[in-house]
Amino acid sequence: MYRLLYPLRTFLIVSGHEETNVMTADWVTVLSMKPFMVGVAIAPKRYTHKLIEECKEFVVAVPSVDMLKDAWIAGTISGPKKLEKLAITFIESEKVKVKSIKEALANLECKLVDKQSYGDHTFFVGEVINYTYNKDAFPNNMPDLKHKFLAHVGLEKFATFSEQIYEAG
Ligand SMILES: Cc1cc2nc3c(=O)[nH]c(=O)nc-3n(C[C@H](O)[C@H](O)[C@H](O)COP(=O)(O)O)c2cc1C
Repeated sequence: MYRLLYPLRTFLIVSGHEETNVMTADWVTVLSMKPFMVGVAIAPKRYTHKLIEECKEFVVAVPSVDMLKDAWIAGTISGPKKLEKLAITFIESEKVKVKSIKEALANLECKLVDKQSYGDHTFFVGEVINYTYNKDAFPNNMPDLKHKFLAHVGLEKFATFSEQIYEAG
């Protein structure tokens, strides 16, 4: 019952050099601050799995609820044939050959540094060698919740965060 850990944030994983592909992924995590490293669990049957193994790079793009339709398409159709159905604009990244997504709130450009198979997924570890982001969405290095970061509840149900902030101190 992996959904006991939900809701989780939802991200878009861009991959491929000669051909670009994008898939939706909930199973994304920060692993290290210095160096900045992230991990993503991707099932071997995903087209993205093959492209990351080939190109050894990927981009983690951060969508808002406004991109939900695209996130659903990217998460339910396999392979680059889905691209014609997407409203996403792919743009050049700064430090990797894999494209970034113009509409995303942030794009994390990753070089593959490790991979390990766990059960039915492969955990790809990437060092974030560059990132670009919407400055209005991250004032003072923190997310501004008015930008409606996309989260997944389960199946076709999604959510975002209330703008209410609770102070711990
Ligand atoms: C909201 C959502 C989250 C998903 N999270 C993951 C994930 O973390 N790992 C994974 O392997 N597949 C995940 N999937 C499934 C893939 O996105 C889906 O199989 C996609 O079609 C794969 O595309 P590809 O074959 O073009 O790479 C998710 C799907 C959705 C809709």
